[in-house]
Amino acid sequence: MTKSRDRILELFRHAADNFLSGEDICRDLGITRTAVWKQIRQLRDLGYEIEAIPSKGYRLQTTPDTLISSEVSAGLDTDVVGRNIVFLPETDSTNTQARQLAQEGAEDGTVVIADRQSRGKGRMGRFWVSPSGVNLYLSIILRPEIELRHATQMTFLTAVAVAEAIESVGDFTPHLKWPNDVLLNGRKIAGLLNELNAETEQIHFMVLGIGVNLNMEQDQFPSDLRSPATSLLVEGGKKISRLEFTRLLLKKIDKLYSLYRDGGFAPILSAWEQRCHMLGRKVEVDYQHSRVVGVVKGLDEAGALLLSRTDGGEERVLAGDVKLLP
Ligand code: BTN
Repeated sequence: MTKSRDRILELFRHAADNFLSGEDICRDLGITRTAVWKQIRQLRDLGYEIEAIPSKGYRLQTTPDTLISSEVSAGLDTDVVGRNIVFLPETDSTNTQARQLAQEGAEDGTVVIADRQSRGKGRMGRFWVSPSGVNLYLSIILRPEIELRHATQMTFLTAVAVAEAIESVGDFTPHLKWPNDVLLNGRKIAGLLNELNAETEQIHFMVLGIGVNLNMEQDQFPSDLRSPATSLLVEGGKKISRLEFTRLLLKKIDKLYSLYRDGGFAPILSAWEQRCHMLGRKVEVDYQHSRVVGVVKGLDEAGALLLSRTDGGEERVLAGDVKLLP
């Protein structure tokens, strides 16, 4: 019945502030008055406020901050990202679901969004706190025609898109921390988890997992988090529409993806470096059971961190946890 629901929402959107008669809805959808009434009840259960006046029909008064697919796709004029949107009120992890859908042949640009995740996955086997109604949890399936060694470039593309989206919704200046954290005022505001399915040199698909803390209250963060986290609500003092943010983010990713396909990694790298507060600074990186100290020079084509060690040598770090030193 999702199709009928989506069509009714579309009719409401066209009607703007006007009433829609029950008869018109019946005719348009080819369903009975009782069936229309059922749909209206379900929409109300989802949080839509709908006025019903017997002589006039129905009028949409307010729309909830829901991420159901028809709401996210309304007005989403993207090329690839979001061509197909799957909304799950609750799931284990959108990355797990996206992987499954991709294996079943889901098209390039499919987006899986959840209101809540019971097993949100973070990097290095960590857990991503994912309560309902407040944040954004989504995964994008992409089938990029790029070399396997360039797959990590997609992480930097996603990080830039998240930072740009955050910059557009308020007076925020996010920073990017290698390899895939987005920070606001020194605390983590978003996390990215990209997964790859490839064979020899060929990428079958990638899953770009993105979690953004939008409206989580300070006391919703567990006290034992490894690194301090925050939300846009905590930092900016006002709620952010999840729906608007999601649309904005998908548009940004789509635009950068098209820039990347046309112009390669260089413009993405430069946008990432502009927001990286670690360039030229002394850092300590823990990786492969060892620790390196050096000054950050930048990134290479594979997204590896280039360090100039204190002993004068050069170091290329592919993965690890990096910390700024005073
Ligand atoms: C990190 O540890 O920084 C990465 C966190 C990634 C969380 C997002 S939420 C949507 C997607 N689904 C998951 O299970 N994880 C990613």
